[in-house]
Amino acid sequence: MRMHMKFLLSITIATVFLLLIFTQLDERQDTYSTGVKSDEQYVAEFDVKQEKSIGKDKADTPPEPGTATSHNQLPKSESKAPENVVTKPPETTKYPSWFSEAWDRSPVRSLTETFVGDKPFFPHCKPSKNTAKGVPYIEPKDYIPESKNPCWYEDPARKKGFRCIPYFYIAGVAKCGTTDLYRRLRLHPDIMKGTMKEYHFWDRERFGNVEMSDSGNVSIVHRKPWTFEQYTDFITGNAGLKTVSNEVKFNQHSHKIFGDGSPSYLWDILNWGRLEGNQGCKEPRIVIGQHIRHIYPKSKMILIFRHPTPRLYSRFLSRIWRTGYLKGSTSTTFHNFVVNGVKTYQECFKRHSIRQCAYNYTIYDDVVVRLVEGMYPIFMADWLRIWPREQMLILRNEDYGMDLEGTVQTAFDFLDVDKLNGTDLATVVEHQLSNVGSEYEKLGPMLPETVKILDEFYQPFVHKFAEILRDDRLLWKDVYPPKRE
Ligand SMILES: *[C@@H]1O[C@H](CO)[C@@H](O)[C@H](O)[C@H]1NC(C)=O
Ligand SMILES: *[C@@H]1O[C@H](CO)[C@@H](O)[C@H](O)[C@H]1NC(C)=O
Ligand SMILES: *[C@@H]1O[C@H](CO)[C@@H](O)[C@H](O)[C@H]1NC(C)=O
Repeated sequence: MRMHMKFLLSITIATVFLLLIFTQLDERQDTYSTGVKSDEQYVAEFDVKQEKSIGKDKADTPPEPGTATSHNQLPKSESKAPENVVTKPPETTKYPSWFSEAWDRSPVRSLTETFVGDKPFFPHCKPSKNTAKGVPYIEPKDYIPESKNPCWYEDPARKKGFRCIPYFYIAGVAKCGTTDLYRRLRLHPDIMKGTMKEYHFWDRERFGNVEMSDSGNVSIVHRKPWTFEQYTDFITGNAGLKTVSNEVKFNQHSHKIFGDGSPSYLWDILNWGRLEGNQGCKEPRIVIGQHIRHIYPKSKMILIFRHPTPRLYSRFLSRIWRTGYLKGSTSTTFHNFVVNGVKTYQECFKRHSIRQCAYNYTIYDDVVVRLVEGMYPIFMADWLRIWPREQMLILRNEDYGMDLEGTVQTAFDFLDVDKLNGTDLATVVEHQLSNVGSEYEKLGPMLPETVKILDEFYQPFVHKFAEILRDDRLLWKDVYPPKRE
């Protein structure tokens, strides 16, 4: 009898306990799956954040390590609109339903938090008990105040173990002129020359897998992950930052800066699943931007975009010579890849969130042509959640072509380096153009029907891109389609 009572009692306790857990889970689900913000709300909140940060006396003072900053606050409780009030303005004419529905379906868009440490709380992720721990944030360092570039001593007391990370990144997008800009910027006496343009530490090397397409098909090559020490050794040793070390050793101010020009930092989808906090997720909650901003919140991003249709073709052409099975491709081959790719993504968008499709590596690999790289607003929206707009320089490849000097000057101003005199500036401007396509000669232009399909597919992306950045130039209306001679 006593046993029986005990049994009943424990069942009751267990039931109450389970009920409690379920209610809690339900509440959590509610918090994060409802209240998806309209873009107006999104932009409005973003503006408030911007004004706050611009309004600060010392907008450019880095936060003390470990203090709460806008980038490591926990989620704010959002004031919810009453249920019967429609907060979403009608925008049916602007976006096709496959796009707007997929866009709104993303749970991450309702999150305001940017730094989550390793709290397992995103209800859309289902890590299993055996899920391995993910790659964590690298904590900020005690940066040496005399150096403009973020550098530190491993042993500050003895001024030993000098290391640096980049001050700026050219983080996107391939085939938009990143290499050319990188090479020109390096001609400035205060911008250090690295032995590499693309370090790919944040997106690939630290995970020990790299996407290679040099011989044969695209494949993921697994190799020994770079440690953070290796990355910083490359930068500090090879990139001329030894001069910074010499300058700051005697408490002199050093103006020299260094940049990492890995154009896939903006969008890379190969390894997000391994970042701590993303395990078991269908789409990332943490992207590379969080990691870069976490270690050094003042870093600057240069992003160059180009109308996505010609960019895609250019990307395809640049891959032919190093991707075995693309050899012998014609504009018809490209056309077929495009038809297939557009269909694959649109089918995914009909059922899943736009981010879930865009960040899916299986789809990316199947599709062959890099359609996803041109889905700019998806990645840009992710970065805008965490990066202050004034720390991003957004350029257009088309302007770069038309006004090289102006664009380079804008980049120098953004990096806050000294103005160059006429002679030096001329050297920068006259420097030979990099990466001028040659495959184009053989394949000729895209077929008109390919252009049509791509323009139509990318149209809502382009619109959304201009909308979230509130910049009409990003509709490319003034330069696209290109005027015929
Ligand atoms: C590369 O992929 C294509 C298409 O999937 C396949 O036909 C070909 O055999 C592959 N080539 C190599 C070298 O693996
Ligand atoms: C990615 O897409 C493939 C193919 O559609 C699907 O099987 C897989 O579950 C997707 N992965 C995620 C994380 O959504
Ligand atoms: C421009 O600046 C460089 C140093 O960066 C200097 O060597 C050169 O003489 C200057 N030229 C003129 C015309 O002032």
